[in-house]
Amino acid sequence: MAKKIDPCTLVLFGASGNLSRIKLMPGLFRLDAAGRLPEHMVILSVGRGEVTREAWQADVKGMLDAKFKNGYDQKVFERFIARNHYHSNPPTDPDAFKKLQAKLSNESVFPQNLAYFLSVRPTDFAPIVAQLAEVGLVDESNYWRRVLIEKPFGTDLPSAQALQAELTKYLKESQIYRIDHYLGKSALQNVMLTRFANAMFEPLWNNEHIDHVQITNNETLGVGDRTTFYDATGALRDMVQSHLLQTLALVAMEKPQDLSPESIRAEKIKLLESIRPIPVSDLNKHAFRAQYKAGRVEAGDGHGENVTGYLEELARDGVTESVTETYAALKLFIDNPRWKGVPFYVRTAKRMHEGNTAISIRFKKAPMQLVEGQHQNWLTLNIQPRECIKMEIESKIPGLDIATRTLSIDGPQRQQGDETIDSYESLMLNLMEGDPSLYLHISEVEAQWRLVDPVVKAWMSDKSPVHQYPAGSRDPQESSVIFESEDQFWRYSIELGGDKH
Ligand code: BG6
Repeated sequence: MAKKIDPCTLVLFGASGNLSRIKLMPGLFRLDAAGRLPEHMVILSVGRGEVTREAWQADVKGMLDAKFKNGYDQKVFERFIARNHYHSNPPTDPDAFKKLQAKLSNESVFPQNLAYFLSVRPTDFAPIVAQLAEVGLVDESNYWRRVLIEKPFGTDLPSAQALQAELTKYLKESQIYRIDHYLGKSALQNVMLTRFANAMFEPLWNNEHIDHVQITNNETLGVGDRTTFYDATGALRDMVQSHLLQTLALVAMEKPQDLSPESIRAEKIKLLESIRPIPVSDLNKHAFRAQYKAGRVEAGDGHGENVTGYLEELARDGVTESVTETYAALKLFIDNPRWKGVPFYVRTAKRMHEGNTAISIRFKKAPMQLVEGQHQNWLTLNIQPRECIKMEIESKIPGLDIATRTLSIDGPQRQQGDETIDSYESLMLNLMEGDPSLYLHISEVEAQWRLVDPVVKAWMSDKSPVHQYPAGSRDPQESSVIFESEDQFWRYSIELGGDKH
């Protein structure tokens, strides 16, 4: 059911950047088209350039034209474009924020509930908040004021805590919305529903029945033009610290008392804090890293594309060596009674044979073993590109003899006519609604850094050459060192047979 949103102004810092062009503006437009924006809702885009309102509106129209190639409703467009204003905030102007305050004080144009979306460099998060505070723009005496912080929240635990300390000089926890866009994905929200709104899964969701869990994010894309960012970051910090640990938390947490933001976050925090620290002294059995080299990736239309390796891409920027991982896999254990002894394998990689994000759960051996090597059941919750639930079960082959084969039962979660909502759309809506359930609490961010920091540090200081895998290939064979038992291996596909190696 739609929640009521107060009249508000969304102040978008970094409005001319890629995120805003490709996701945020089109997302806001779609929310408007769906009738989800309140009548009195204004978008104030803040950028460095001197641009008139008319020129900015023309720019916004260009963003919509680029996104919605099949056109869009003109009536909605007129309503949407009228919501759009622009404010120039050159970094060289010492009075920039005073001017912003003066502009926003025009109450007849700008509703005074203010939601700030900071789509800016992470080094600018704290300075922007400090300057907003200086001119009274985060004061909640009469209206709400919320600040959305883009990823990454710090680059390790100390920097995350330092950023938190800066922000909380001016903001209460309830004003801070730390984003992890994976939480806005409808298929990920479905994990909790699948678990708790069905009677058949929860009784099996424990170490008595589950052999291990694999959480996978594979991409066919390389690092693209983000070489500088990526080389300073690596797969572990880019994907595992955030999106994949959040996914794990949703898979493994206990049932929240209710669906309030506080209850859900409390369970996620508890779970994240109960993941056993990765033993750095025995790192090779718990973590594996690799880099893609030149190879060939499938383009989706059946055609392949020859692509260069990571180190060659860096070389174009004059960087001659790097141990930064583009493939990262971890084995994690959760120290609580439900999960005692169950390995959670978490992996992410660029330039793999396919792009897919999935949670795959392998069950223990069945009570009746009819043939040697009988297939163990799998349950896969596929997040993207297809949203579906797959179950692999053993079934008798009709005939005179007792023989089994594996059936893959496929339940598409997305059906014709279903709404397609980008994660940023639902997250922006939640920001305006004041619902932080799908945003990260600082304790979650801290627990996530606490877990990956020692591995990042160990990997950074080990300069021996990193294992290379050809672009477009499956998991490097060598990554299997992290498996607990010899009969465990990566699923390379969610299709039947995708667990064979
Ligand atoms: C981002 C990472 O947070 O998530 C990218 O920085 C990654 O490297 C992206 O490609 C993946 O998001 P999605 O929604 O495309 O799976």
